[in-house]
Amino acid sequence: MTAGALLIVDLLLAVVAAAAWIGAGVTAAVRRPRIALLVFVGASICTLARVGTTVALAGNGWWFVQEKVLFGLPLAVLFALLAWIVAFRPLLRGQESPVVPLVLLTAGYAAAAALVVTFLFGYPLRISVALVATALVGVAALVTWRMLVPGRSRSRLAIVGGAAAVGVAGIATGFLPVAAIDTGGGHAHSAGGETRSVADLAGPAAVPPGVPVRRYELTARKSTATLPSGQKLDAWLYNGKLPGPELTATEGDLIEVKLRNADIDRGVTLHWHGYDVPNREDGAPGVTQDAVMPGGEFVYRFRATQVGTYWYHTHQVSDTGVRMGLYGTLIVSPKGPKPAGAEVVLPVHTFSGAMVLGSSDEVLDHRFRPGTPVRVRLINTDSTPHRFALAGTPFRVAAVDGRDLNEPGEISEQSLVIAAGGRNDVTFTMPSRGVALYVDGLTTLGRTFSPEGSGSASYVGVDETAGWKQLDLLSYGKPRSTGIDGSSPFDRRFTLVVDRTLAVAGGLPKYAYTVDGRAYPDVPVQQVKEGDLVLMTIVNRGLDNHPWHLHGHTVQIISGNGRVPTGSPLLLDTFEVRPGEVWQVAFRATNPGLWMNHCHNLPHADQGMMLHLEYEGVTSPNRR
Ligand code: C2O
Ligand code: CU
Repeated sequence: MTAGALLIVDLLLAVVAAAAWIGAGVTAAVRRPRIALLVFVGASICTLARVGTTVALAGNGWWFVQEKVLFGLPLAVLFALLAWIVAFRPLLRGQESPVVPLVLLTAGYAAAAALVVTFLFGYPLRISVALVATALVGVAALVTWRMLVPGRSRSRLAIVGGAAAVGVAGIATGFLPVAAIDTGGGHAHSAGGETRSVADLAGPAAVPPGVPVRRYELTARKSTATLPSGQKLDAWLYNGKLPGPELTATEGDLIEVKLRNADIDRGVTLHWHGYDVPNREDGAPGVTQDAVMPGGEFVYRFRATQVGTYWYHTHQVSDTGVRMGLYGTLIVSPKGPKPAGAEVVLPVHTFSGAMVLGSSDEVLDHRFRPGTPVRVRLINTDSTPHRFALAGTPFRVAAVDGRDLNEPGEISEQSLVIAAGGRNDVTFTMPSRGVALYVDGLTTLGRTFSPEGSGSASYVGVDETAGWKQLDLLSYGKPRSTGIDGSSPFDRRFTLVVDRTLAVAGGLPKYAYTVDGRAYPDVPVQQVKEGDLVLMTIVNRGLDNHPWHLHGHTVQIISGNGRVPTGSPLLLDTFEVRPGEVWQVAFRATNPGLWMNHCHNLPHADQGMMLHLEYEGVTSPNRR
């Protein structure tokens, strides 16, 4: 069973156990001892089974079971045992006693408390949460007692009062402040040291002599886009284009982009996804700049130091802004003569009610002479993964997230799953028959590549690609040493446990996408020093995929769900962490600044799954 499936099974068992204990209590209270006995045994089996799932989950790490081992299971098992001691014999003999439903119901409250703590609070277990949950079980048991055994008792009221006091105390400790900074085991910055402002961590102020400049102007505006199918979309676009203008440069060029906002009321920025620009140019509103409001402008300047497939998007209310269409591609080619062959840039994007590949919502055909080298740059600009199938030719995945793979081998009949924000460069030699590119198994959207000159081409049908297995990047290509692996002497180690839990954000409790049980902006800042080698571990305790993305740095995958890469090193900017998985990545802190570190499922980021990585001594005038 996968870790994700285990998480779901454990949760289901917890729900069934709580319901069954309560059901047993209720049937006992209405004097149906036979049924009560059956349900009682069922509840006990579910509780025991949870011990099993917890042991299995523990194999993936303590983060997955901490609250179960320290709180939920001891409480549930304790009351289950009590029920066996007190209720089993009377039920078997059909004897009536108010104590029987009382212990069964109390076991139900305990099981429910265990469920609530796992589901709503998760990791780390807080003493406040454990206290409140225990107090509530006590209060519920006492109220039940009062209902089952008529009569007044002052002592019971006193106990209720006591339980309530524990509860209030627990809630109060829940609001105690947490450390605002996580140093990852390294030294904390001593106040009074040298400081630098984000504004000074900028791209070149003047054009260095002999450096070609690529100048662009992008204006964000509310627009109506008409798709090739005839469908009209309300969109927010850069220069009225869907996707925004394709920005290109050659390695070493200076890229200068003037951003204007015509009428996007909530503001816009430009973030260069995967491009390790100087901090001021990063486009993170409230961190590296203020959002550009209607009538305003901002100029971004940086050298084209990385070759490959990248993209840009607004980072202001990015959940809405990107979805509405504020994105485009950035392609940087290597210095020297342009390689022969054809190139197709294909960002996939989902609007409400329409999906486009490039700028088309239909199947388009490209014609190439057989023998032509073709490079297809696949870009996922959405918040969820997409599956691509290239049928009719062997191919290679030459690059992932813009970075070339080492000796990628030729493959065929394997699908490519690209995480939100990620890219795959696929290369093949145009054969003398047709090639089809399918997205998510759709027949209404995609590309065909037809041999030029030949009359008609036939294509492999989409159904034949349905069973293709997914290319495993962790074992694709050939190893090459980067000098960094899991045993490197890391200066800092950060662990981020991501989940969906109750969190206090901005003073109000919310059901949020959280990091260590906290939602942005209340997640502690990760602090590093320039030059540090950093290990970052992402633990997914939730039931959603989380495509993780750190700004300003390229990360190397150290292990993906426990597997060390055996193929090419994987140098990425976005990596998918599925439910129950643990991924470890390393990076060198060589780009000083304040950087966003977040889930690239943008609604998740918007609902709290986001934090800052800061270099010691860097300050920002824009910081919120
Ligand atoms: Cu592509 Cu912070 O984002
Ligand atoms: Cu997420």
